Amino acid sequence: MKAILLAGGKGTRLRPLTIHTPKPIVPIFDRPFLHYQLDLLKRVPEIDEVILSLNYQPRRIEELFGDGGDSGLSIKYVVEPAPLGTAGAVRYAGESLRESVVVFNGDVLTEVDLAAVIALHRERKAKATIVLTPVENPSAYGLVETDAAGNIQRFLEKPKPDEITCETINAGIYVLEPETFERIPKDMPWSIERSFFPSLIERDETFVAYVDRGYWIDIGTPEKYMQVHHDVMDGRFRAPPFADAASPASITWVAPGARVEDGAILEGPCFIDDATVVKAGARVGPYSVIGRHCHIEEHAAVEGSIVWANTRISQEAVVRASILGRHCHIGRNATIQNGVVLGDKSVITDHSRCNGMSHQPPATSHRP
Ligand code: GDD
Ligand code: MG
Repeated sequence: MKAILLAGGKGTRLRPLTIHTPKPIVPIFDRPFLHYQLDLLKRVPEIDEVILSLNYQPRRIEELFGDGGDSGLSIKYVVEPAPLGTAGAVRYAGESLRESVVVFNGDVLTEVDLAAVIALHRERKAKATIVLTPVENPSAYGLVETDAAGNIQRFLEKPKPDEITCETINAGIYVLEPETFERIPKDMPWSIERSFFPSLIERDETFVAYVDRGYWIDIGTPEKYMQVHHDVMDGRFRAPPFADAASPASITWVAPGARVEDGAILEGPCFIDDATVVKAGARVGPYSVIGRHCHIEEHAAVEGSIVWANTRISQEAVVRASILGRHCHIGRNATIQNGVVLGDKSVITDHSRCNGMSHQPPATSHRP
């Protein structure tokens, strides 16, 4: 059985992080995101090949995963000449398939029991089975209504507030029958959510829901990207190096090749990757994730932030609740806080103040 991973989107909501790093390979701690999805696929012995459906910066992804040798799965790459949308991409990548195929959005993290989803699909002889998950606010997702027997009655992508009738949404994980792909137009953009799924309902085909109430997140915005790190450090999603600890939130994880000088303060949960130096008097506070080859200089403080590789945080600078890309330089005494997101190679000069104003109401103007 094959799996198609839809990993060709531009990741616009995660910009500027995705300008040089396509969303499927943004790091979660020290591993590119796709590794976590491959881990899930590996749990199903029947899945022997993964087709990565790519468009945006495909080379970067191919270079990382090669033929899949290290991951234990065979990996094939299909690069669209132009973005074909979620359904067009499935048709393009699945052209030669003759058996049921698992399809995954390339930005969702979950622990769903895929083998059980496949079993339900077979048992119901469905044309399509999709995994649903309950969320508080479905407006950013595809709303899915079902009947009591688990048949899908309605699929509404990005519902407006007055269109929200239930809490279950499309989790971005499907089992599909390739015979249905013929209805997807060839070589033009087509949406699985707005056109293909509604077509199954219109034709009254067997279209089944598998509701999963376990962990689920779409990492596609800076807030969610930050959230997934918190969830791992709090033990809500189990992943190394926090997976096996009885109380993950107390862990201060320092890679063997990192150097934390005497007099530096680490407060868990936090993660410091290889070859990074934390100088005396510096503080790495709770929910901080520091990538490889970073420098946290004397009396600098990092708290609740994600710092990608090769970034320098100079003396007495403060970085709070923010995300910094690779090769950034934060000058002395600079303050960066409240949801700032800096792209790779950003330079913040000494004493600068950057405030992301996240979750704050827009400023009102006071006119005389
Ligand atoms: N190959 C290819 N080509 N992949 C694409 C294309 C394309 O033209 N467009 C999007 N993708 C990939 C993205 O890389 C991503 O992995 C996946 O398809 C979904 O696209 P998103 O842009 O992340 O969609 P979304 O998050 O707004 O909504 C989708 O996911 C939700 C769950 O996270 C929908 O499927 C919703 O219905 C769903 O609830
Ligand atoms: Mg998404």
